[in-house]
Amino acid sequence: MEVYADFAATTPMDKEIMEKMFANADEFGNPSSIHKIGKRAKAQLEHSRREIAGLLNAYPSEITFTSGATEANNLAIRGVVSNYDHPHIITTAIEHASVLNTYESLEDVADVTYIPATEKGVIDKEAFKAALREDTALVSIMLVNNETGVMQPIYEIGEILAGHNALLHVDAVQAFGHMGVDVKDFGADLLTLSGHKIYGPKGVGVLYRKNDVILNPMITGGSQEKDRRSGTENNLFIYAMAEAMKKADDERTMRSIKEMQLKEKFLNTLTHAEIPFEVNGDVNQAATHIINIHFPWTEAEFLLTALDMADIYVSSGSACSAGTVEPSHVLESMYGEDARVKKSIRFSFSHLMEEEEIDAIVNALKEIYERLFIES
Ligand SMILES: Cc1ncc(COP(=O)(O)O)c(C=O)c1O
Repeated sequence: MEVYADFAATTPMDKEIMEKMFANADEFGNPSSIHKIGKRAKAQLEHSRREIAGLLNAYPSEITFTSGATEANNLAIRGVVSNYDHPHIITTAIEHASVLNTYESLEDVADVTYIPATEKGVIDKEAFKAALREDTALVSIMLVNNETGVMQPIYEIGEILAGHNALLHVDAVQAFGHMGVDVKDFGADLLTLSGHKIYGPKGVGVLYRKNDVILNPMITGGSQEKDRRSGTENNLFIYAMAEAMKKADDERTMRSIKEMQLKEKFLNTLTHAEIPFEVNGDVNQAATHIINIHFPWTEAEFLLTALDMADIYVSSGSACSAGTVEPSHVLESMYGEDARVKKSIRFSFSHLMEEEEIDAIVNALKEIYERLFIES
C-alpha cells in the first residue's frame, strides 16, 4: 500500500473540481478582449473574484490573482517595501522561504527584524512588542506554520498593531480550509493563499490587499489585475481555485474532525507501538492537518529514505526545499543547535486518508526502529 502523508506539501486535485474545471474549459477567451467571448471570460473571472472575496470577508477589488503564494508573498512584500526609503520591517524566523528569502534579499534596502519562535513553535510575543518601532512599516507573520502546524497569534498581533501605522501581511496558505480566515478579524492588510494546498490546481494563488494599501507591481506589462499583476489571467485555474475554496470552506468542520482523528490515532498508535518520539511544538495550538515529530533514535534523512522504500511518503523541512534534506530553519529557531533539528519529520494528513494508512505508517516506523535497534 502506498501512503501519502505530505498534504502540506501539496494536495491532489479534487476530482469534482477537476470535472467542473474541464467542463468550463471551452470558455477560452481573454478577459481583456472587448468582444463577446472576451466579455464572457471577464464575467467568469469577476465571478471567481467575488466568490473568493466573499469567503475572506473582503471586497472583490481587494483580490489579485497570481501564479501561487510564492508570487503573492513576493508581491505583498516587494510591492510595499518599494514605497519606502529604508523601512523597518518585522517578520519571523519561521516564515516560509517565499517570505524569508524575499526579506533576506531586501536587507540592503530595508531594516529587517526576525522574531524567533519559542519551543512551543509560537513566535515570541514579547520579542515582537520590543521590536515594534514607531517607524515600522510592515509586519509579515504566517497564520499556520507549514512545518509544525502551530498557529501564530495573529489576533493578538492585529490588536497590538491596531493603533499603529504598520501594515500586517499574513501568509494564510496552510490555514485556509482548516480554520476560519477572515481578513477583517485579523486586521490584515495583505494576505496570501495558494490553490494547490486546498485540492485546487498548482500555479494559482491569491493576494488580498486592503483597498487603501499602495502596492507597486513586480510584473509589468498589459496592466491586468488593475495594474498590480500584468499577464493574461489563468481564468480556468482561478475558477478552480474559487471552487476549491468554496468546498474547503463548506467542508471545513468535517475535514478538521477527520484530520484531528487521524492525528490522534497516529500519536496513540505510535505510543502503543513503543516507538520513542516527541512532538515538536505545542500540539494543542496546531492546525489539524500537520504534526512534526522528533524521533531521537535516527536522522531524518535516513528515516525519510527508509519510509520511502516502504512506500510511505512524508517530508522533513519545508515543502519547497523537499528533495534536499537541510536542517529546518523553523526547528532551529525553536530549539537552536539541538540534535532534534536533524531528527524530525513532518506528517501532514487529509480527510481523504483512511485509518489503515495511519497503521501502515506506524508499522513501517516500527519495522525501521526495530531493524536499527537490533542491528546496533
Ligand atoms: C506557508 C506557505 N507559504 C507559501 C507557500 C508557497 O506556495 P506556492 O507553492 O503556491 O508558491 C507554501 C508552500 O509550501 C507554504 O506552505
